[in-house]
Amino acid sequence: MAKLLVNGGRRLSGELSIHGAKNSALPLLAAAILCQGKTVIHNCPDLSDVDAAFRILRHLGCGVRRENDMVVIDAESIETSEIPTTLMREMRSSIVFLGAIAARTGRAKLSFPGGCELGPRPIDLHLAALKKLGLTIEEDHGFLDCRSDVPLRGADVIFPISSVGATENVMLAASLAKGTTTIHNAAREPEICDLAAFLNACGADIRGAGESIVEIRGVKTLTGCEYTVMPDRIAAATYMAAAAVTGGELDLLNVVPEHVKPIVPVFEEAGCRLRFWGNNLTIQAPARLSSMHHVVTGVFPGFPTDAQPTTMAMAAVARGNSMFVETIFENRFKQVGELARLGAKIKVDGRVAVVEGVEKLSGAPVMATDLRGGASLVIAALAAEGTTSIDEIHHIDRGYERMEETLCAVGADIQRV
Ligand code: EPZ
Repeated sequence: MAKLLVNGGRRLSGELSIHGAKNSALPLLAAAILCQGKTVIHNCPDLSDVDAAFRILRHLGCGVRRENDMVVIDAESIETSEIPTTLMREMRSSIVFLGAIAARTGRAKLSFPGGCELGPRPIDLHLAALKKLGLTIEEDHGFLDCRSDVPLRGADVIFPISSVGATENVMLAASLAKGTTTIHNAAREPEICDLAAFLNACGADIRGAGESIVEIRGVKTLTGCEYTVMPDRIAAATYMAAAAVTGGELDLLNVVPEHVKPIVPVFEEAGCRLRFWGNNLTIQAPARLSSMHHVVTGVFPGFPTDAQPTTMAMAAVARGNSMFVETIFENRFKQVGELARLGAKIKVDGRVAVVEGVEKLSGAPVMATDLRGGASLVIAALAAEGTTSIDEIHHIDRGYERMEETLCAVGADIQRV
C-alpha cells in the first residue's frame, strides 16, 4: 500500500491553486442523470471519490469522458436503475444518486450506503423526504427498493436538522416532479448553491438556495449544460493550515472569499494574517501559532466540520490550550489517537476535545483514519521534527488532488512511496 513520507520542519512559501470542490462535483454528477443530452462540467477535481461517481454513472448507462479537468456526461440512455453494493460501498455519499435515478426512471434500487469513519451516517432524512415526494421505499436485507408509478409530486419537506446530502437529494428529485416542493430548514452550504445554479442552467426552477427555505418548481425536462464547479473551500482550509503550522506564507489561487470567511476568525486568533485579493487569498503565519480558545463546528456559515481535524493539527503546536466542539458528527475525533503518536497532547470527552499545544511534534509512523483525519496527519507531520510515515493514504486521495505534489511545490519534503 502507498505511504506518504514527510520530512517536517520546512517553512512553506509560494502559490498554489485550489482544485474544484469534491462536495459540489459529486451532486453535480448525480444531477447529470436528470438531463437530456450532454452535460459538460469544468474544474471537476481528479479524486478517487469522483472516479467512484464515474463508475456509478457508467454502470447506469451514461457515457462519461474526462479531458483534464473537463468531464462530458451523456445521460441520453439510462439502462438500469440499480446500483450494485460494490459501487455503493465505495463511497458513502453515493446516496445522493437515489433522488436523481428515481426522478429520471421512476425506480431505484441500491444498498444502504457504507457507514463511514465518522459514525453511522444515517440516511433517515433522505428517505423520509423522498417518501413525501411520492417515492415508495422498501428496506429489506440491506437494500432500498424504491419506485414511483406516477411522476414524483411536489411537497412540503421539513427537515428537523439541516442535512447537506438530504437537501441535495430533494432538490434533485423535485426538479422533475409535478408541482412545487418547498424545503424548510434546508442546508445553506455553498455546495447547495452550486447545485441549484447548475440545475437552473439546465432548465430547472429553483429559488432560495443558500437560504433555509428553498423552493423547487418542477419542470418537464432538463437539458444538459456547461458548468464550472466552485473551488474546494475545505481544500483551501487545509492548505491554509499547512502554511499556519510551518510559519509560512502562501498565496492560494481560486478561492471564493465568502466560502472561506467562516474560518477566518479562528486563523486570525491563531495569529495568522489573511488578505483576500479577487478570488485569491494570501496567508502569513507567525513563527509560532497562538491557541484557539473555542472552535465550534456548525452548519454554514459556521466553522465547517470538515476543517476541524486540520485546524486541530494547528492547535497541537500552538502556544496554550485550544478547545474544539464537534456539533455535526458524533465521532469526528478519529485523528486524535494518531496525532498523539506524533506527540500531540489532546483530551477528548464526547464532542469536546481540548488540545494542549506543545513546542514540537516528532515524526512517527501513523495511519490515516478518514479523509480529513488523514489530512490532519499531513499537516501535523509538516510541523514535526524528523520523518513521519503516513499509511492508508487512500483516504486522503478521496478528497485531495495529489496533495504531496501540491505541498512539495511550495517547499514541503513529501514522498509518496
Ligand atoms: C456532507 O455530508 C459532506 N459530504 C461532508 O463532507 C460534510 O462533513 C457534511 O456534509 C457536513 O457539512 C458531501 O457533501 C459528499 P449531512 P452529508 O447530511 O451530506 C446527520 C468530507 O470530508 N444526518 O449534512 O452526509 C449526520 O449523521 C465529508 O468531505 C442524519 O441524522 O452530511 C450528521 O450528523 C465528510 N440523517 C448531520 O446530519 C440523515 O438522513 C449532518 O450530516 C442525514 C444526515
